[in-house]
Amino acid sequence: MNHDTTQPAVRPTRGQTQPSRMEWLVTFGLILLAVIPVLAGMVRVGQLTIGLDTTPVTPENARFVASPLPVILHILGSTVYALLGAFQFAPSFRLRYPRWHRRAGWLLVPAGLVAALSGLWMAHFYPWPAGDGELLYAMRLIVGFMMTLSLIQAVVAVRQRKFAQHGAWMVRAYALGMGAGTQVLTQIIWMVLVGTSGEFARNMVMGSGWLINLLIAEWIISRRLTNPQRRAKATRT
Ligand code: HEM
Repeated sequence: MNHDTTQPAVRPTRGQTQPSRMEWLVTFGLILLAVIPVLAGMVRVGQLTIGLDTTPVTPENARFVASPLPVILHILGSTVYALLGAFQFAPSFRLRYPRWHRRAGWLLVPAGLVAALSGLWMAHFYPWPAGDGELLYAMRLIVGFMMTLSLIQAVVAVRQRKFAQHGAWMVRAYALGMGAGTQVLTQIIWMVLVGTSGEFARNMVMGSGWLINLLIAEWIISRRLTNPQRRAKATRT
């Protein structure tokens, strides 16, 4: 079946451009999911810039102090990506502000690439902190690579005016990046239910965060592709 949908030349009605309660909830939920990693990132950037002379070097931060540029780029890129991205998936925002959607998209994609590529760089070159191991290293390489590939595919699709594919690749790319937010939740759940720490716990917490997001992304994509109404909504810009 061909799922390509090119942009229909239909002027949206006012009702279609009013964000529904569900859209507000999803946007707010995504921002909420990003809040903790974004705030933690801001603290880290503060330590590595204005606080560099006063921050004591510890085993926890030594790799960041020795090579601050990748982590600073990572935090700035992922903050823009996570926060801007939250507004891109609500169909009525796209209908009401199509120019905003396109402009934000052209900022979001490079920000996402910076987040993913710097993440890959850190995974490979930073010394592993206590609790990190080979499995987490492999997962980070896979996630960083898949996120980069998804962003590139999303750009290729939109250049070819294949809006359904563009949307699907962006959902995947965003879900992978937002693993950082879901991992905060899986960490809390793990601590409450299991309570152990160490390499196994870290692999479970991190891996389940990415897996949950990927499963949700594939569920959203398949729902859109199998439901003509949702597909039309998802491809309207
Ligand atoms: C929007 C998404 C993301 C956000 C908000 C985010 C946030 C952060 C933050 C705040 C840090 C600094 C942690 C600290 O100060 O201890 C960090 C580190 C890191 N991130 Fe991300 N990240 C995101 C996506 C990714 C992705 C997709 C990868 C996959 C390659 C990744 C890999 C890493 C690595 C390897 C580190 C260094 C970890 C360490 O050495 O402790 N991140 N991230």
